[in-house]
Amino acid sequence: MTQEAHVTQGPLTTEAGAPVADNQNSETAGVGGPVLVQDQLLLEKLAHFNRERIPERVVHARGAGAYGTFTVTADVTPYTRAAFLSEAGKQTEVFLRFSTVAGNLGAADAVRDPRGFALKFYTEEGNYDLVGNNTPVFFIRDAIKFPDFIHTQKRDPYTGSTEPDNVWDFWSLSPESTHQVTWLFGDRGIPASYRHMDGFGSHTYQWNNAAGEVFWVKYHFKTDQGIKNLTAEEADVLAGQDPDSHQRDLREAIERGEFPSWTVGVQIMPAADAAAYRFNPFDLTKVWPHADYPVIEIGKLELNRNPRNIFAEVEQSIFSPAHFVPGIGPSPDKMLQGRLFAYGDAHRYRVGINADHLPVNRPHATEARTNSRDGFLYDGRHGGAKNYEPNSFGGPQQTGRPLWQPVDGLTGGTGNHPTPLHAEDNDFVQAGNLYRLMTEAEKERLIANLAGAISQVSRADIADRAIGNFANADADFGKRLEAAVRELRG
Ligand code: HEM
Repeated sequence: MTQEAHVTQGPLTTEAGAPVADNQNSETAGVGGPVLVQDQLLLEKLAHFNRERIPERVVHARGAGAYGTFTVTADVTPYTRAAFLSEAGKQTEVFLRFSTVAGNLGAADAVRDPRGFALKFYTEEGNYDLVGNNTPVFFIRDAIKFPDFIHTQKRDPYTGSTEPDNVWDFWSLSPESTHQVTWLFGDRGIPASYRHMDGFGSHTYQWNNAAGEVFWVKYHFKTDQGIKNLTAEEADVLAGQDPDSHQRDLREAIERGEFPSWTVGVQIMPAADAAAYRFNPFDLTKVWPHADYPVIEIGKLELNRNPRNIFAEVEQSIFSPAHFVPGIGPSPDKMLQGRLFAYGDAHRYRVGINADHLPVNRPHATEARTNSRDGFLYDGRHGGAKNYEPNSFGGPQQTGRPLWQPVDGLTGGTGNHPTPLHAEDNDFVQAGNLYRLMTEAEKERLIANLAGAISQVSRADIADRAIGNFANADADFGKRLEAAVRELRG
């Protein structure tokens, strides 16, 4: 283990810097008497200790991070004017935090769960955050369902445990989850480590070029280490033996100088294609088949530096899908739109109003020039500069150029409109395609994993409804799953 020593000169001190005479015995009134309030060191230590925790992330609480470099390998200027993507060979510092989703801070890494893949590019035009997962799709397609979904993944209010009834009740009543659940219970559902899995931006994002032309893009990060997964049995053992398996693997690989890397690609859809595309391109439960839009290689991502202090740099790191830079913006994906609000709100609650000023979070290749000031733990960085705009004292000014282009063709009244369906859209088509792509051995493991989970529900109607969704994806899938569940439920 390479641990940087923090060597200090001089004696132990209080928080205020006064030398400490005795760090073993608190001060008492006489030998064997009660403790005195004048023991500042004791009070300060106990009080500080009580405040060591901040709220954990409401999802993705458990994670590990590392710094690295993104290198552009292709000319993407026809598609985006983002400065950090302006020429092949250009490098940008990054910070990536991997995570599991459902487990609390102390949970084990080797579990069946999506993995977070949150990437911060410290660009010269501000930080660009791409907050993705290791899966190209998601369980739901509207942010209004997210808190309900996560409640079913977390502990039940009465039992205090995660409950298969809740998980399968929600999934079976949300048939749009069938694709992601098929993926999750397949081989890639438990990666062997954070290094041995792919990453995805998952949502569709907007790129716009210097001429103002719009493209819809999906990001792909293909692991150069190769995909490696754990079977359910291997994961059960590892989760018990080494709950920190993913975190340890990442840190130790970087310490050994084995820097993990990913080949970065994008699928690019010209804006004019979107309306008539066979799948709604803004539906997060669907992929764009590569035959329609091939993945074009654009860069290399390498992680090469461990954080020095996990709390400061990983626990307090913040990533927001709303952190865009010129040339990149959101799509009308309803999930993404909800996320544009949720993350900043979470950061203000979890880390505080000055979270953006912390070393891991602030821009590294430019500076933030806002008129926001003060609040808890404000460090006075703006000195005496004016704190309003417009001003005639040389303060920073707006550019007049939005980061992204407007979305055309919106019509109709306000309303709780469902995501529009395109020609081939339904909740099951891509889940069926995924199943049919699997080898026979992969199908067997998928069905065993699903049957093991579904057979734990207490009510037959929930199990039947869950099986029904997979049957809608593929008749063979449904038939085999039903038989496997029947056998386990007896
Ligand atoms: C509407 C749906 C969603 C909502 C409301 C939501 C909300 C949140 C919140 C509140 C956090 C904690 C943030 C923090 O405390 O710093 C979080 C973390 C995270 N979410 Fe989501 N999420 C949604 C969907 C997604 C999707 C679709 C993905 C991936 C494609 C994703 C990836 C992540 C990742 C990777 C993290 C951890 C970020 C980190 O490492 O700090 N989430 N999410």
